[in-house]
Amino acid sequence: MSNFIIDELSKIVYNDLVSFHVPGHKLGKLYDKLNYTEILKKLYKMDTTEIPGTDNLHSPEDIIKKSQERASQAFKSDKTYFLINGSTCGIQAAIMALCPPKSKIIVNRDCHQSVINSCILGDINPVYIKSSIDRDTNILKGVDINDVIKVIDNNKDAKALILTYPTYYGMTYDLKTICDYAHSYNIAVIIDEAHGAHLGLSDKLPKTALEQGADIVIQSTHKTLPAFTQSSMIHTKGHRVDDNKLMSILKIIESSSPSYLLMSSLELAVDIYDKYGKDLMSNLIDNINKFKNSFKDSKSIEIYNTSDVTKIFISTTGMGLIGYELETILREEYNIQVELSNYYGSLLVCTIGNEDKDFKCLEMALNDIINKYKSNKQIGRIDYPNDIPVQKLTPREAFYKDKKSVKIYESIDKVCGEYIIPYPPGISLTSPGEVITKEIIDYILFCSKKGMNVSGLKDSTLGQIQIIE
Ligand SMILES: Cc1ncc(COP(=O)(O)O)c(C=O)c1O
Repeated sequence: MSNFIIDELSKIVYNDLVSFHVPGHKLGKLYDKLNYTEILKKLYKMDTTEIPGTDNLHSPEDIIKKSQERASQAFKSDKTYFLINGSTCGIQAAIMALCPPKSKIIVNRDCHQSVINSCILGDINPVYIKSSIDRDTNILKGVDINDVIKVIDNNKDAKALILTYPTYYGMTYDLKTICDYAHSYNIAVIIDEAHGAHLGLSDKLPKTALEQGADIVIQSTHKTLPAFTQSSMIHTKGHRVDDNKLMSILKIIESSSPSYLLMSSLELAVDIYDKYGKDLMSNLIDNINKFKNSFKDSKSIEIYNTSDVTKIFISTTGMGLIGYELETILREEYNIQVELSNYYGSLLVCTIGNEDKDFKCLEMALNDIINKYKSNKQIGRIDYPNDIPVQKLTPREAFYKDKKSVKIYESIDKVCGEYIIPYPPGISLTSPGEVITKEIIDYILFCSKKGMNVSGLKDSTLGQIQIIE
C-alpha cells in the first residue's frame, strides 16, 4: 500500500520547489537557514497534551501565557492569543464577541468567506461596503474611505466594522481615519490582517492595523511569517473588547486538544520575528526592488505597484498570456509556484523565507517565458463583478432553508442557496440569501474555462446551482 499525501509532499520537497506562496517558512528553508533544525527534528516528540508542566491554551497560566505575552510585546498589542485553527477561528471569535445575535456588522464586500460564516454562526446581519477594484487588473484594492463613511452614517447602530487590511493583493488605505470615524459612533473595528503579520518588520511597509487604532486584529502568522499552516494570532488593544468574552468563544470553536506543534511553531515565528525579522525583511525588500527593476522597461511583463511591496502582481497580458496560463507555465516548466492568479496576472507572496536565488530563478524563468511565448495575441477583458447583490435573506436564514438544484443559467434572479467563491482568494461573489446575477454567472463560467477554481457549490462542475424558492 502506498502513501498518498506523504508521497506527493515528499516529491515537492525533493524537487526543491521555488515557493512564492504561503506558508511563510517556504518549505522549511528558513528554519534550516537560521539553524532551528535541531529543535524541529525533536518536534514530533513534543506533540503532547495538557499534562503537568504543559499549561492549557484555554486557560493559560504558565508557559503558554508567557509565550503569548512575548508575542504581545513583539506585535505591540495589549493582549495576544494563539490560534490553532487559523485566522478563520479568530475572525469568528472576534465577530461573535462583539456582535450579539440579530445585530449588524459592517463588512467590506470582498471579505474572506469566514466573515459571512461567522454571521451564519452568530445570526448576525452583514451590511456591505463596496470593494474598490483596479479595472485593468481586477486587483482588489480595499475600500474607499468615502464609501466606508457613507455606510457608517447609514448604520450607526452597527456593533462592529470588519475590514480586510491589507488585501490579499497587498493593497492598503487610510485605516486610521476609518478607525477614528467608527469609534466616534462607538463602533468597534476588527481588522482581518491575515495577510499582514509581517508589516511591523519595516518602515517601508504599510503601518500595522494596531498602530492605526484597530480594536481587534487577526493575523495568519503562517501566511507571511514562519509558522506552520493553521497557526495564527488574535491581538486586542484598548477598552472596546471584552477579553473574557473573546476567550469564551475561542473555547467553543477551537479544539479542546490544541496542537503543541502549532503553538511551538507560533513561538518559533515570534523568536525569528524578534531576533532576525528586521534584517531579513530589509534583505527581502532589496531583492524585490532589484527584481522589479530588471523588468521596469519590459513591454511584456508589467509589475503592479502594491502598497505592501512583498506582494508582487505580475501581468503578462502584454505578451498574450493570461494569469492562469502564466501560473501553469511557471509551475510545470520552471518548478516555481505562485500564490494565485486571476485573468490578468499572477500574485506572488514573498516572505523573509525567500532567498536571493528564488528571485534569480524567477527572473530567468520570466525572461525565458518572454522568448518562448511572446505573441501579439489580444487578451479580451473580463471585469470582476462589483455590484453588491440584493440580499433577500440573512446568511443564517438562507443556510437553514431547503434548497433546490437548477441549471446554472436558470438560477439568474433566484435566491442563492450556497456560496459562489473563486478559490483562491476565497472571497464570495454571491452568498446564501443573495440574488444571483447574470454578471456573476457569466464571470465564473468565463474564468473557470480559463483556469479559475470555484468552490462553495455542491456541483463543482458548475452545471447546477442550489437556489432557495
Ligand atoms: C483575507 C483572509 N482572511 C482570512 C483568511 C483565513 O485565514 P486562515 O487560513 O489562517 O484561516 C484568509 C485565508 O486565505 C484570507 O485570505
